[in-house]
Amino acid sequence: MRAAAAAPASTELRPAREMSGELAVPADKSIAHRALILGALAEGRSTIVVRHPGEDVLSTLAALRALGVRAEAAGDEPTTGHEPTSGEPLPPTSVRIDGLGQAGHAGRLGGGQADCGNSGTTMRLLMGALAGGAGEVVLTGDASLSRRPMERVAEPLRRMGAEVATTDGRPPVTILGRRPLAGVNHELSVASAQVLGALVLAALAADGRTAITVPGPTRDHTERMLSAMGVPLSRSGRPRGASVTTVDGPSVPRPMRMTVPGDFSSAAAWVVAAAIHPAASVRLANVGLNPTRVALLDALREMGAGIEATVETEQAGEPIGTISVSSRGGPLRALRVGPELVPALIDELPLLAVAMAAAEGTSEVRGAQELRVKESDRIAAVAAALTAVGANVEELPDGWRIRRGRPREATIATRGDHRLAISLAVAAWAGVAAGVRLDDPACVAVSYPTFWRDAQRLGLGGPA
Ligand code: S3P
Repeated sequence: MRAAAAAPASTELRPAREMSGELAVPADKSIAHRALILGALAEGRSTIVVRHPGEDVLSTLAALRALGVRAEAAGDEPTTGHEPTSGEPLPPTSVRIDGLGQAGHAGRLGGGQADCGNSGTTMRLLMGALAGGAGEVVLTGDASLSRRPMERVAEPLRRMGAEVATTDGRPPVTILGRRPLAGVNHELSVASAQVLGALVLAALAADGRTAITVPGPTRDHTERMLSAMGVPLSRSGRPRGASVTTVDGPSVPRPMRMTVPGDFSSAAAWVVAAAIHPAASVRLANVGLNPTRVALLDALREMGAGIEATVETEQAGEPIGTISVSSRGGPLRALRVGPELVPALIDELPLLAVAMAAAEGTSEVRGAQELRVKESDRIAAVAAALTAVGANVEELPDGWRIRRGRPREATIATRGDHRLAISLAVAAWAGVAAGVRLDDPACVAVSYPTFWRDAQRLGLGGPA
């Protein structure tokens, strides 16, 4: 799916004199995955507008098609969505998806093989969606995904009656969809929205009540979307504590129309860059501002950044609005992030580490061991990359201790990890590094196909 992300000619990134402008970032990939999968499970036709889908979202679309779902895309069909540098704004992709409804639960969803690419969310959510089908499906992934743990989903699905086999705990995963599934009580040991989401999808096909206790806060897109699609479900818990999600099955979602909001995790690149940079003013429109996703804003405010976020509208239960960030003058202050904050910041931690490497004093992140099983071992990768550009980073088993250093130039091995590439680009533009060369700048297209073009719009140099 990397086809049109043509390798940029130059990858030398330098500190920028200023950054300013207004952007709308591509559609939120967490929400887009769920909208496509739930559209496939709904009874009838859904229309999902996904602005500039990244490769992960396209993996979900391709996997659903491989499993027999009819989904027609209009607008910037997959390959043109990856144009990385310049050109006219791309139209949104509108996907019309014919949900299988009852038929999907009875087994028409499934049979065959589907490639989930680099996307852990695609694989884990599909495991849940397929567990109640009747076909045999093999889910595969790329080299990075093939190293990631899948028993965290397979094991609880088996407790519901599903037949799921992993390969030494990892992909490829085989699902012998076999009804009936039965609702059970799950107590998860990891606060993972992917695992929770997979079990909620399986619960839709199960007989009886499924209750899922999660030890900490997770993003709640699945729950919000299902409620908007008429599936009764409840979630209780404290904002930063354990929660219980309850679903009564079997239940078939109603189809929906949704325009997926901009991805907060993509907007986060510009939020962090502008918060560090001494001459920045950036406005990000149409961004998803779900409270389970935006903890980065509070963290940066605590460090002294000047950030405003305003909710303006809502789609399928998701708050959407504008974020404005301006330089405050003077460096940020150090920050300590503990385990209770980690799930709401998980994908932004590499960027927050860059902000910490720009701050005065010693910052720390603890309780983030989940980062070791993301697209790369992000604890090791961020420590190595920030050290290479001159920051003082101590790698901890579950995080980092970070102090500002003397900026240097370095070539960074991205390990194919989009968030690492984006974070190190931000480090260069914001002056945390004296210069950065990325070995694989095109990997940003996993989540943010228009990243380099948007950088140019803000006046930042990049691959040309
Ligand atoms: C996601 C959940 C997070 C996050 C990932 C997307 C999701 O993973 O890191 O990028 O869409 O549910 P975990 O829930 O496994 O921590």
